[in-house]
Amino acid sequence: EEIEKAGYDHFMLKEIYEQPKAITDTYRGRLLRDQAIIKMSGVEDNIKKFLNANRVIIVACGTSWHAGLVAEYIFEDLARIPVEVEYASEFRYRNPVINEDDILIAISQSGETADTLAAIKLAKSKGAFVFGICNVVGSSIARETHAGAYTHAGPEIGVASTKAFTTQITVLTLMALRLARAKGTITSSDYHHHLLELEMIPNKVKKALEYDNHIKTIADIYKDATNCLYLGRGYNFPVALEGALKLKEISYIHAEGYPAAEMKHGPIALIDENMPVIVIATKKGHYEKVVSNIQEIKSRKGKIIGIVTQGDEQVRELADHVIEVPETLESLSPLLTTIPLQLLSYHIAVMLGKNVDQPRNLAKSVTVE
Ligand code: G6P
Repeated sequence: EEIEKAGYDHFMLKEIYEQPKAITDTYRGRLLRDQAIIKMSGVEDNIKKFLNANRVIIVACGTSWHAGLVAEYIFEDLARIPVEVEYASEFRYRNPVINEDDILIAISQSGETADTLAAIKLAKSKGAFVFGICNVVGSSIARETHAGAYTHAGPEIGVASTKAFTTQITVLTLMALRLARAKGTITSSDYHHHLLELEMIPNKVKKALEYDNHIKTIADIYKDATNCLYLGRGYNFPVALEGALKLKEISYIHAEGYPAAEMKHGPIALIDENMPVIVIATKKGHYEKVVSNIQEIKSRKGKIIGIVTQGDEQVRELADHVIEVPETLESLSPLLTTIPLQLLSYHIAVMLGKNVDQPRNLAKSVTVE
């Protein structure tokens, strides 16, 4: 096991650091920027189905469900395809409306999650086309779906999912771009810009990882918190949910993720000097609105940790701490903003002496209901 950890203290840390490579492995052979094409056989072979689809329904559980939420933004924004994202466990039991011109996309790291598998079988029985996004090759979900794409993240051992999440988003981004190009819902220059920026993501993830020691210092300050709030808007709202989930899973600190603007409909009542609030406030995407949310937190004495774009000054003025990530397109920003949240949870859990790789009560793969 020590050899497998390759010098890292935990699998989770190793997997966090593997993300530049994992993302590269995910788009290798698929993103062909010189030719300006995206090649994914599972999509190519069924391109008509995708282009004629009325809507896409995404089903998943846990972290994979959060990747689905990011996909909702990117599919609708770029490819103009209506998307619904469902917890597989809810979908399978609520007599959902499924038509033959619906596409179901199932996302699962393990490819074995019982609820996701059952949702797939239900959609198939109603005649929908089912596409799987899995990490584990030859898994039950990979076999049960009509077509699919692997994430190629390599084995993920830590129970709290990290590289599976960012590689799922990478696959979904490639799909959205491919469909946007085919549908003509993206301009040629925007498309090229996306390909270029996506290719630069692994290096930018490396840059985001360089803040590890700074994040460790922040973790030390907040490790004894009993509650934490995570806020984000747009593409980064699902990242807020994922950040809160990571903290809950491995440190057992209660955390909630919220869309920043919804704060005033409830969570704001909880804010006082004992409440750390992690706010994703990158430059592109509702920046000014998030800054005004930060002002509201500050006036209630909440402790603010801002995830900001490199060089940001406005949030730095207001926040107690900032963690920078490199600049990128808004649609690709979840791939970067997720990194500091993973590291923050990791360090807090280690400082609290928790079993990071195998948190209590949780399983890597939930194969029973
Ligand atoms: C469990 C794991 C999570 C994972 C979820 C969905 O809860 O602990 O890390 O996100 O299952 O798993 P899947 O393999 O379907 O992505």
